[in-house]
Amino acid sequence: MADMGRAVVATALGGPEVLRLVEAEVTPPGPGEVQVRVHAAGVNPWDWKSYAPGSGGRPPVRLGLEVAGVVQAVGTGVRWYSPGDEVVAWPVTGGYADVVTAPQRVVVRRPDGLDVVRAAGLLAAGVTAVHAVDATGVDDEDVVLVHGASGGVGRMVVQLAVLRGARVIATASPASHDCLRRFGAEPVTYGPGLLDRVRDLEPALGRVTVAIDAVGTRESLDTSVALVRDRRRVATLVALERAAGLGVLALGHGAGADPGHDVREAARSQLTTLAADGSVEVLVTGTYPLEQAAAAHVRSRDGHTGGKLVLVTR
Ligand SMILES: NC(=O)c1ccc[n+]([C@@H]2O[C@H](COP(=O)([O-])OP(=O)(O)OC[C@H]3O[C@@H](n4cnc5c(N)ncnc54)[C@H](OP(=O)(O)O)[C@@H]3O)[C@@H](O)[C@H]2O)c1
Repeated sequence: MADMGRAVVATALGGPEVLRLVEAEVTPPGPGEVQVRVHAAGVNPWDWKSYAPGSGGRPPVRLGLEVAGVVQAVGTGVRWYSPGDEVVAWPVTGGYADVVTAPQRVVVRRPDGLDVVRAAGLLAAGVTAVHAVDATGVDDEDVVLVHGASGGVGRMVVQLAVLRGARVIATASPASHDCLRRFGAEPVTYGPGLLDRVRDLEPALGRVTVAIDAVGTRESLDTSVALVRDRRRVATLVALERAAGLGVLALGHGAGADPGHDVREAARSQLTTLAADGSVEVLVTGTYPLEQAAAAHVRSRDGHTGGKLVLVTR
Protein backbone atom coordinates (compact mmCIF):
# COMPACT_ATOMS: atom_id res chain seq x y z
CA MET A 1 0.00 0.00 0.00
CA ALA A 2 1.26 3.53 -0.85
CA ASP A 3 2.49 5.76 2.00
CA MET A 4 0.12 8.57 2.88
CA GLY A 5 0.75 11.98 4.43
CA ARG A 6 -1.16 15.18 5.09
CA ALA A 7 -1.05 18.08 2.65
CA VAL A 8 -2.80 21.45 2.45
CA VAL A 9 -4.57 22.16 -0.85
CA ALA A 10 -6.73 24.96 -2.18
CA THR A 11 -9.83 23.11 -3.36
CA ALA A 12 -11.11 26.09 -5.40
CA LEU A 13 -10.10 29.63 -6.28
CA GLY A 14 -11.02 32.00 -3.46
CA GLY A 15 -9.86 33.04 -0.02
CA PRO A 16 -8.43 30.98 2.85
CA GLU A 17 -11.83 29.29 3.37
CA VAL A 18 -11.05 27.05 0.36
CA LEU A 19 -8.04 25.44 2.08
CA ARG A 20 -8.34 21.81 3.22
CA LEU A 21 -5.95 19.43 4.91
CA VAL A 22 -6.17 16.21 2.88
CA GLU A 23 -4.52 12.80 2.84
CA ALA A 24 -2.11 12.63 -0.10
CA GLU A 25 -0.08 9.76 -1.50
CA VAL A 26 3.66 10.01 -0.84
CA THR A 27 5.46 8.77 -3.92
CA PRO A 28 9.08 7.55 -3.72
CA PRO A 29 11.72 10.06 -4.87
CA GLY A 30 12.65 9.80 -8.54
CA PRO A 31 16.17 10.02 -9.97
CA GLY A 32 18.02 13.04 -8.56
CA GLU A 33 15.25 13.75 -6.06
CA VAL A 34 15.29 14.10 -2.29
CA GLN A 35 12.28 13.28 -0.13
CA VAL A 36 12.06 15.51 2.93
CA ARG A 37 10.04 14.90 6.10
CA VAL A 38 8.79 18.47 6.61
CA HIS A 39 9.05 19.92 10.11
CA ALA A 40 8.23 23.51 9.20
CA ALA A 41 7.08 25.37 6.08
CA GLY A 42 7.37 29.12 5.48
CA VAL A 43 4.25 31.12 4.59
CA ASN A 44 4.62 33.62 1.75
CA PRO A 45 2.13 36.01 0.12
CA TRP A 46 2.62 34.03 -3.09
CA ASP A 47 0.89 31.07 -1.41
CA TRP A 48 -2.49 32.81 -1.05
CA LYS A 49 -2.03 34.73 -4.32
CA SER A 50 -1.68 31.37 -6.13
CA TYR A 51 -5.32 30.41 -5.49
CA ALA A 52 -6.91 33.87 -5.49
CA PRO A 53 -9.66 34.51 -8.05
CA GLY A 54 -8.01 35.60 -11.31
CA SER A 55 -4.68 33.98 -10.39
CA GLY A 56 -4.94 31.35 -13.11
CA GLY A 57 -4.41 28.67 -10.46
CA ARG A 58 -5.97 25.30 -11.26
CA PRO A 59 -7.49 23.64 -8.20
CA PRO A 60 -6.59 21.56 -6.38
CA VAL A 61 -3.55 23.80 -5.84
CA ARG A 62 -0.74 22.40 -3.67
CA LEU A 63 0.81 25.14 -1.53
CA GLY A 64 4.16 25.88 0.05
CA LEU A 65 7.38 27.10 -1.57
CA GLU A 66 9.89 26.52 1.22
CA VAL A 67 10.48 23.94 3.93
CA ALA A 68 12.88 22.80 6.63
CA GLY A 69 13.06 19.17 7.70
CA VAL A 70 14.94 15.90 7.52
CA VAL A 71 15.82 13.82 4.46
CA GLN A 72 13.93 10.53 4.67
CA ALA A 73 14.76 9.00 1.28
CA VAL A 74 16.82 9.79 -1.81
CA GLY A 75 16.40 8.77 -5.44
CA THR A 76 19.03 7.21 -7.65
CA GLY A 77 21.94 9.48 -8.53
CA VAL A 78 21.65 11.62 -5.39
CA ARG A 79 25.14 12.00 -3.99
CA TRP A 80 24.92 15.09 -1.80
CA TYR A 81 22.31 13.94 0.74
CA SER A 82 21.43 10.86 2.79
CA PRO A 83 18.51 9.96 5.04
CA GLY A 84 18.77 11.80 8.36
CA ASP A 85 20.36 14.98 6.96
CA GLU A 86 18.81 18.20 8.27
CA VAL A 87 17.97 20.41 5.28
CA VAL A 88 16.09 23.40 3.98
CA ALA A 89 14.65 23.61 0.48
CA TRP A 90 13.37 26.30 -1.87
CA PRO A 91 11.61 26.33 -4.28
CA VAL A 92 9.44 23.27 -3.70
CA THR A 93 5.93 22.43 -4.81
CA GLY A 94 3.52 21.48 -2.04
CA GLY A 95 5.66 22.28 1.00
CA TYR A 96 2.60 22.58 3.27
CA ALA A 97 2.70 18.84 3.89
CA ASP A 98 4.21 16.11 6.03
CA VAL A 99 6.47 15.06 3.16
CA VAL A 100 7.72 16.85 0.06
CA THR A 101 9.91 15.66 -2.79
CA ALA A 102 12.25 18.02 -4.61
CA PRO A 103 15.28 17.98 -6.91
CA GLN A 104 18.53 17.82 -4.91
CA ARG A 105 19.72 21.13 -6.40
CA VAL A 106 17.03 23.08 -4.48
CA VAL A 107 18.09 21.55 -1.16
CA VAL A 108 20.75 22.93 1.17
CA ARG A 109 21.97 21.67 4.54
CA ARG A 110 20.59 23.36 7.63
CA PRO A 111 23.50 24.42 9.85
CA ASP A 112 23.26 23.64 13.60
CA GLY A 113 23.10 27.34 14.46
CA LEU A 114 19.85 27.82 12.53
CA ASP A 115 16.75 26.38 14.18
CA VAL A 116 14.18 24.57 12.06
CA VAL A 117 11.37 27.14 12.37
CA ARG A 118 13.51 30.13 11.39
CA ALA A 119 15.16 28.05 8.67
CA ALA A 120 11.74 27.46 7.10
CA GLY A 121 11.25 31.22 6.77
CA LEU A 122 14.68 32.05 5.43
CA LEU A 123 14.98 31.19 1.77
CA ALA A 124 12.01 32.54 -0.21
CA ALA A 125 12.30 36.02 1.30
CA GLY A 126 16.08 35.76 1.49
CA VAL A 127 16.78 34.93 -2.15
CA THR A 128 14.42 37.73 -3.20
CA ALA A 129 16.29 40.17 -0.97
CA VAL A 130 19.67 39.04 -2.29
CA HIS A 131 18.38 39.58 -5.83
CA ALA A 132 17.13 43.07 -4.95
CA VAL A 133 20.37 44.33 -3.37
CA ASP A 134 22.37 42.71 -6.16
CA ALA A 135 20.29 44.11 -9.05
CA THR A 136 20.43 47.63 -7.61
CA GLY A 137 24.16 47.32 -6.86
CA VAL A 138 23.94 48.32 -3.19
CA ASP A 139 27.33 49.16 -1.66
CA ASP A 140 28.83 51.19 1.17
CA GLU A 141 28.40 54.49 -0.68
CA ASP A 142 24.62 54.11 -0.82
CA VAL A 143 21.64 55.38 1.10
CA VAL A 144 18.93 52.78 0.51
CA LEU A 145 15.20 53.34 0.97
CA VAL A 146 13.41 50.04 1.71
CA HIS A 147 9.60 49.98 1.49
CA GLY A 148 7.89 47.22 3.49
CA ALA A 149 10.91 46.86 5.74
CA SER A 150 8.99 45.08 8.51
CA GLY A 151 7.89 42.22 6.25
CA GLY A 152 9.66 38.97 5.48
CA VAL A 153 11.39 40.30 2.36
CA GLY A 154 11.94 43.86 3.61
CA ARG A 155 13.66 42.77 6.82
CA MET A 156 16.10 40.69 4.80
CA VAL A 157 16.76 43.56 2.37
CA VAL A 158 17.50 45.87 5.31
CA GLN A 159 19.94 43.45 6.91
CA LEU A 160 21.75 42.63 3.65
CA ALA A 161 22.07 46.32 2.73
CA VAL A 162 23.48 47.12 6.19
CA LEU A 163 25.93 44.21 5.82
CA ARG A 164 27.11 45.80 2.56
CA GLY A 165 27.85 48.98 4.48
CA ALA A 166 24.92 51.06 3.18
CA ARG A 167 22.85 53.47 5.26
CA VAL A 168 19.23 52.33 5.25
CA ILE A 169 15.92 54.16 5.60
CA ALA A 170 13.16 51.64 6.31
CA THR A 171 9.41 52.22 5.94
CA ALA A 172 7.18 50.35 8.38
CA SER A 173 4.43 50.87 10.90
CA PRO A 174 5.69 52.06 14.31
CA ALA A 175 5.47 48.64 15.99
CA SER A 176 8.53 47.51 13.99
CA HIS A 177 10.66 50.64 14.39
CA ASP A 178 12.71 49.45 17.38
CA CYS A 179 13.63 46.20 15.65
CA LEU A 180 14.61 48.04 12.46
CA ARG A 181 16.81 50.39 14.51
CA ARG A 182 18.47 47.33 16.06
CA PHE A 183 19.20 46.11 12.51
CA GLY A 184 20.97 49.43 11.90
CA ALA A 185 18.25 51.16 9.84
CA GLU A 186 16.50 54.50 10.31
CA PRO A 187 12.76 53.71 10.40
CA VAL A 188 10.03 55.97 9.00
CA THR A 189 6.27 55.48 9.06
CA TYR A 190 4.67 55.07 5.63
CA GLY A 191 1.53 56.98 4.61
CA PRO A 192 0.79 60.62 3.69
CA GLY A 193 3.89 62.81 4.02
CA LEU A 194 6.35 59.94 3.48
CA LEU A 195 8.39 61.85 0.88
CA ASP A 196 8.92 64.76 3.27
CA ARG A 197 9.80 62.47 6.17
CA VAL A 198 12.47 60.77 4.08
CA ARG A 199 13.79 64.11 2.79
CA ASP A 200 14.09 65.27 6.41
CA LEU A 201 16.54 62.39 7.00
CA GLU A 202 18.73 63.16 3.98
CA PRO A 203 20.81 65.96 5.57
CA ALA A 204 22.02 63.46 8.20
CA LEU A 205 22.22 60.30 6.10
CA GLY A 206 22.94 61.56 2.58
CA ARG A 207 20.89 61.59 -0.58
CA VAL A 208 18.87 58.44 -1.27
CA THR A 209 20.62 56.58 -4.10
CA VAL A 210 18.71 53.27 -4.17
CA ALA A 211 15.08 52.31 -3.48
CA ILE A 212 13.77 48.77 -3.06
CA ASP A 213 10.01 48.37 -3.01
CA ALA A 214 8.52 45.32 -1.28
CA VAL A 215 5.06 46.91 -1.06
CA GLY A 216 3.92 48.00 -4.52
CA THR A 217 1.70 50.94 -3.60
CA ARG A 218 1.50 54.13 -5.65
CA GLU A 219 3.08 55.89 -2.68
CA SER A 220 6.09 53.57 -2.47
CA LEU A 221 6.99 53.87 -6.16
CA ASP A 222 6.20 57.59 -6.48
CA THR A 223 8.37 58.32 -3.44
CA SER A 224 11.18 56.17 -4.84
CA VAL A 225 11.32 57.86 -8.25
CA ALA A 226 11.04 61.31 -6.67
CA LEU A 227 14.13 60.63 -4.55
CA VAL A 228 16.47 58.44 -6.61
CA ARG A 229 18.16 60.05 -9.63
CA ASP A 230 19.07 56.83 -11.45
CA ARG A 231 15.87 54.89 -12.18
CA ARG A 232 17.88 51.70 -12.79
CA ARG A 233 18.60 51.80 -9.05
CA VAL A 234 14.92 51.67 -8.15
CA ALA A 235 13.52 48.14 -7.98
CA THR A 236 10.04 46.89 -7.28
CA LEU A 237 9.20 43.34 -6.27
CA VAL A 238 5.45 43.90 -6.42
CA ALA A 239 4.27 46.58 -8.89
CA LEU A 240 5.78 44.69 -11.82
CA GLU A 241 3.35 46.06 -14.44
CA ARG A 242 3.95 49.67 -13.47
CA ALA A 243 7.74 49.35 -13.49
CA ALA A 244 8.32 49.54 -17.25
CA GLY A 245 6.40 52.82 -17.61
CA LEU A 246 8.56 54.38 -14.90
CA GLY A 247 11.82 52.90 -16.23
CA VAL A 248 12.54 51.12 -12.93
CA LEU A 249 13.59 47.50 -12.37
CA ALA A 250 10.90 44.84 -12.00
CA LEU A 251 12.23 41.77 -10.18
CA GLY A 252 10.36 38.48 -10.00
CA HIS A 253 8.10 36.44 -12.20
CA GLY A 254 5.76 37.71 -14.89
CA ALA A 255 5.10 41.05 -16.60
CA GLY A 256 8.55 41.01 -18.24
CA ALA A 257 10.30 41.11 -14.85
CA ASP A 258 13.85 39.86 -14.29
CA PRO A 259 13.50 36.50 -12.50
CA GLY A 260 17.15 36.60 -11.39
CA HIS A 261 17.52 32.81 -11.68
CA ASP A 262 21.28 32.67 -11.27
CA VAL A 263 21.59 35.10 -8.38
CA ARG A 264 18.69 33.49 -6.52
CA GLU A 265 20.05 29.96 -7.08
CA ALA A 266 23.44 31.02 -5.75
CA ALA A 267 21.93 32.69 -2.67
CA ARG A 268 20.74 29.57 -0.80
CA SER A 269 23.96 28.51 0.89
CA GLN A 270 25.07 32.13 1.37
CA LEU A 271 21.85 32.75 3.35
CA THR A 272 22.06 29.64 5.54
CA THR A 273 25.64 30.61 6.43
CA LEU A 274 24.68 34.20 7.26
CA ALA A 275 21.70 33.07 9.34
CA ALA A 276 23.67 30.38 11.18
CA ASP A 277 26.15 32.89 12.61
CA GLY A 278 23.50 35.54 13.29
CA SER A 279 24.63 37.92 10.52
CA VAL A 280 21.02 37.95 9.35
CA GLU A 281 17.98 37.17 11.48
CA VAL A 282 14.65 35.64 10.54
CA LEU A 283 12.00 37.16 12.78
CA VAL A 284 9.15 34.65 13.12
CA THR A 285 6.01 36.35 14.42
CA GLY A 286 3.61 33.42 14.23
CA THR A 287 3.68 29.62 14.08
CA TYR A 288 0.62 27.58 13.17
CA PRO A 289 0.00 23.83 12.98
CA LEU A 290 -0.50 22.59 9.42
CA GLU A 291 -4.25 22.25 9.99
CA GLN A 292 -4.45 26.01 10.69
CA ALA A 293 -2.95 27.09 7.36
CA ALA A 294 -6.12 29.08 6.64
CA ALA A 295 -5.64 31.16 9.81
CA ALA A 296 -2.05 31.86 8.77
CA HIS A 297 -3.28 32.99 5.35
CA VAL A 298 -5.90 35.28 6.86
CA ARG A 299 -3.09 36.97 8.80
CA SER A 300 -0.67 37.07 5.86
CA ARG A 301 -3.31 38.62 3.58
CA ASP A 302 -3.85 41.36 6.15
CA GLY A 303 -0.32 42.49 5.21
CA HIS A 304 0.94 43.41 8.69
CA THR A 305 2.60 40.25 9.97
CA GLY A 306 5.66 42.09 11.29
CA GLY A 307 7.87 39.20 10.10
CA LYS A 308 7.53 35.61 8.94
CA LEU A 309 4.71 33.16 9.61
CA VAL A 310 5.61 29.48 9.69
CA LEU A 311 3.53 26.28 9.64
CA VAL A 312 4.74 23.40 11.77
CA THR A 313 3.89 19.75 11.25
CA ARG A 314 4.52 18.43 14.77
N1 LIG B 1 8.96 39.63 -6.95
C1 LIG B 1 9.36 38.64 -6.19
O1 LIG B 1 10.23 37.83 -6.56
C2 LIG B 1 8.77 38.49 -4.83
C3 LIG B 1 9.25 37.51 -3.95
C4 LIG B 1 8.72 37.45 -2.66
C5 LIG B 1 7.68 38.30 -2.30
N2 LIG B 1 7.20 39.19 -3.21
C6 LIG B 1 6.12 40.11 -2.86
O2 LIG B 1 6.66 41.09 -2.00
C7 LIG B 1 5.65 41.56 -1.11
C8 LIG B 1 6.16 41.49 0.31
O3 LIG B 1 6.35 40.12 0.68
P1 LIG B 1 6.62 39.75 2.19
O4 LIG B 1 6.79 38.30 2.26
O5 LIG B 1 7.66 40.63 2.76
O6 LIG B 1 5.21 40.17 2.83
P2 LIG B 1 4.84 40.48 4.35
O7 LIG B 1 5.81 39.78 5.24
O8 LIG B 1 3.40 40.23 4.50
O9 LIG B 1 5.13 42.05 4.53
C9 LIG B 1 4.22 43.02 4.09
C10 LIG B 1 4.83 44.40 4.32
O10 LIG B 1 4.02 45.39 3.70
C11 LIG B 1 3.89 46.50 4.59
N3 LIG B 1 2.66 47.21 4.26
C12 LIG B 1 1.39 46.74 4.35
N4 LIG B 1 0.53 47.69 3.89
C13 LIG B 1 1.29 48.76 3.54
C14 LIG B 1 0.99 50.04 2.98
N5 LIG B 1 -0.25 50.41 2.69
N6 LIG B 1 2.03 50.87 2.71
C15 LIG B 1 3.30 50.51 2.98
N7 LIG B 1 3.64 49.31 3.50
C16 LIG B 1 2.64 48.46 3.77
C17 LIG B 1 3.89 45.89 5.95
O11 LIG B 1 4.25 46.88 6.90
P3 LIG B 1 3.67 46.95 8.41
O12 LIG B 1 3.37 45.54 8.84
O13 LIG B 1 4.83 47.56 9.17
O14 LIG B 1 2.45 47.80 8.38
C18 LIG B 1 4.96 44.80 5.77
O15 LIG B 1 6.25 45.36 5.92
C19 LIG B 1 4.40 40.69 -1.38
O16 LIG B 1 3.52 41.39 -2.24
C20 LIG B 1 4.99 39.48 -2.09
O17 LIG B 1 4.05 38.82 -2.93
C21 LIG B 1 7.72 39.31 -4.46
